[in-house]
Amino acid sequence: MVRKAVWVVLGFACFGFVVTAGIMPLKVSAEDARFVIEVSSETQEGVKAEMVDTLLALQTIVNKTLEGDGSAIAEAIKPLTTSGVRGHPEIRMFFRNYPDMSTVWRQMGRYGMHATFDRIESLALIQPLDKEAMLEETGTLLGYCSGCHMTFTMP
Ligand code: HEC
Repeated sequence: MVRKAVWVVLGFACFGFVVTAGIMPLKVSAEDARFVIEVSSETQEGVKAEMVDTLLALQTIVNKTLEGDGSAIAEAIKPLTTSGVRGHPEIRMFFRNYPDMSTVWRQMGRYGMHATFDRIESLALIQPLDKEAMLEETGTLLGYCSGCHMTFTMP
């Protein structure tokens, strides 16, 4: 009985910890050493909207790869390829003062994520769909998502 009670208390303690950690804003963490990109709220909104599109495209890649539907993938990711993406002038301006971080940003963004979308587009146009190659490139893509999110943030 006592042992049972201990488990219940422990359970609540853990639950409480998880809930508290979940509602604490990330920025109060002393360990958050990410580079802050300071741009207007309009540009931030633009980047975030593009990010949500990126997440949706990722979902399409996974679902349609399973179905072998390359044309749906090609269509969904077209705006995210190096030729489709528009870029954010204010971010380019901001990074002029931080050449090293600018290089990292471009390696993760244009030469990383967007270039991977180019390769995914090429793969998507070949029938039958090479599912294994697609999965491999999707893994590469996810590496750029997490790499950039671990490096940069916005205020
Ligand atoms: C070149 C850098 C970079 C890459 C690559 C990148 N992101 Fe982001 N992403 C950001 C930044 C910066 C933010 C804003 C985060 C913040 O404010 O802390 C963000 C935010 C987001 C958000 C939150 C949007 C919102 O409405 O708040 C989502 C979802 C997201 N990214 C998905 C993705 C996915 C999926 C990928 C990979 C396919 C990806 N991102 C790749 C830089 C990047």
